[in-house]
Amino acid sequence: MKKSAHYLKLPTKNKRNRKKKLRKKMLSMFYFILAPIVFNIVTARNLQHLRSVTGYAYGYLSDCPGNENPIIMSEDSLRKLRIKVIGAKMTSGWIKKKYNYYQMNEMGNDPTMDYSRKTVLFISGYFDNPDFAASRIMEYSYRLLGYNVFLLDMHKFVEHDYPSVTRNLPAIGKHTAEMLYNLTQQNVGFDPKKFEMVGLSLGGETISFIAKSYKALSGVKISRLTALDPSGPCFRNRGPDRRLDKSDADYVEVIGTNIDGLGIATPVGHVNIYINGGEYQMSDIYWMPCEMFCSHIKVFEIWFSALRNQDSFIAIQCDTMQQARDKDCYDRKPFVTNLLGLKVDKTKHGIFYLATTYNYPYYMGEKGLKRENEPVHNLLKATNKADIVVV
Ligand SMILES: *[C@@H]1O[C@H](CO)[C@@H](O)[C@H](O)[C@H]1NC(C)=O
Repeated sequence: MKKSAHYLKLPTKNKRNRKKKLRKKMLSMFYFILAPIVFNIVTARNLQHLRSVTGYAYGYLSDCPGNENPIIMSEDSLRKLRIKVIGAKMTSGWIKKKYNYYQMNEMGNDPTMDYSRKTVLFISGYFDNPDFAASRIMEYSYRLLGYNVFLLDMHKFVEHDYPSVTRNLPAIGKHTAEMLYNLTQQNVGFDPKKFEMVGLSLGGETISFIAKSYKALSGVKISRLTALDPSGPCFRNRGPDRRLDKSDADYVEVIGTNIDGLGIATPVGHVNIYINGGEYQMSDIYWMPCEMFCSHIKVFEIWFSALRNQDSFIAIQCDTMQQARDKDCYDRKPFVTNLLGLKVDKTKHGIFYLATTYNYPYYMGEKGLKRENEPVHNLLKATNKADIVVV
């Protein structure tokens, strides 16, 4: 009896040992394989930020097959490519002139131009025209700063389906560069080192093609390009020779306000400033959404404000685009800042995050450098600040 009991007991003990071993094995398996998943589910915030789980945004209209095929501009079309000139010497009563591709000798003699000053060429976006508001406002802003202003009139080439319009850009760039190079050769004083271009949206890509062609013609780079949420659709996946790039000019600044939608996320400039993370902007109307178009054009109001408040938009450097998107650059070491606008330190290259308020004039000054003032988080917190709510 005793023996048999002992005999019976043995396998039970072995079984228990095996069970123990198995449990141990399963536990270690849990730690190695399952625990990270459970951890991510429990801490839902981390799961949300795990890009391997949510995937990466491909971006709106990233590829446009066929839009890199060649295009030829007819003689008649070139008559419609024009530069409107508002020189620093313009007096009231002067009727502003537009010069087309074949009128460069006349443009060289425009009496309002003061070539001892800086000159800026502004290009607005898709479906726009230099006689409309955006160009007029930029003309006014830069004239206040003492600049000569050129406005590119390419409206005949941008009033079609967007993907076909993007196909026109290299040709627009080539011929506009020929016009500028013609000025250079006339020795009237046009100096590419005193010349800047500012482009809004589609204009932000157009200035790149002008700069590339001007460089090819003259061997000289233009001094500065400022791209205001330059178009990402149809350009997003192109290489640097087929879209805006820092190699286009001595200094290229990019300001992003809708980088996965109508703008571009690649940090293509020397200084790349992402407003409130660059993905979406805040609305002027409380928590109401500021979606793609709203976020995209917000860059214009911010640049307008930055031209008048040159010390007030202070951006913080980030190590990665992810940190900029996540508004998580406050603790970066070393803590490096730069100014949005004409007082930017052109030697401090990289990715920058800039917090703004909801309303004009948007800047936050030094306040914007502290995490506790991060505006989106604070807005959301304010809507739920009561401890207990009775509904
Ligand atoms: C500049 O363009 C005009 C036409 O607009 C042309 O007559 C002239 O030859 C050009 N000059 C140069 C140096 O290319």
